[in-house]
Amino acid sequence: MKSFIAANWKMNKTIAETREFLRDFIPSVKDVADVDIIIAPPFTSLAAAGEALMGTNVQLASQDMFWEEKGAYTGEVSPAMLLDTGCRHVIIGHSERRQYFHEDDAVINKKIRAAKKAGLGVIFCCGESLEEREADKTFDVIGREIEKGLEGVDAENLVVAYEPIWAIGTGKTASPEQAQEVHAFIRERLRKLYGSAAEDIRILYGGSVTPENVELLMACRDVNGGLVGGASLKPDSFAKLVCYKKEK
Ligand code: 13P
Repeated sequence: MKSFIAANWKMNKTIAETREFLRDFIPSVKDVADVDIIIAPPFTSLAAAGEALMGTNVQLASQDMFWEEKGAYTGEVSPAMLLDTGCRHVIIGHSERRQYFHEDDAVINKKIRAAKKAGLGVIFCCGESLEEREADKTFDVIGREIEKGLEGVDAENLVVAYEPIWAIGTGKTASPEQAQEVHAFIRERLRKLYGSAAEDIRILYGGSVTPENVELLMACRDVNGGLVGGASLKPDSFAKLVCYKKEK
């Protein structure tokens, strides 16, 4: 299975900074053929990034979108608007959207359905908080997020990201064993939903992934890629991460 490594820039980088990053980054990964490389800049940089990425082996993603096609939804961005910038994927259900913007499972499900209907690939995020992990609720939480979030959604162009909230931006990475345990659980749930098609769904790990720890995480059976925040903001760091096999 081809691995999938995505940069989630969150609320970082102006258009000029986006262009500068891509000017350095694109040449440094041009020979990478065995990884799907994805960059998710903020909305304001999508069009500029789309132009810079045209004809390269780096694909564009959005960090969010709204589910309606058009209309009176001040501040929102539609799937067609994303496609227009060259976007091929969209991140949906990130814990920061759930936490700060009150997105619940029903909202996330609507967004996923709308994205897939428009032909966008979906990077669906799930993960437990520290409190939930300590209360032994990790599998309950993730099981529910998958069941509700993916209700009525098919497996085509679907990528699932496991992001333990306690590992995001904290420098506290899940150990490979902790990651594999949850990824195996996610795979099992996907088998229930999709049968043998579940074997082809990439399951990404996210949460303090760095060029130093990526190799051990990627060695886990059910870890098929990464969703990277902080370490994706510098071109050399993200290039190192994407090229982790060559760095040996
Ligand atoms: P960090 O890599 O900064 O921990 O962020 C992870 C993340 O939330 C990616 O979506």
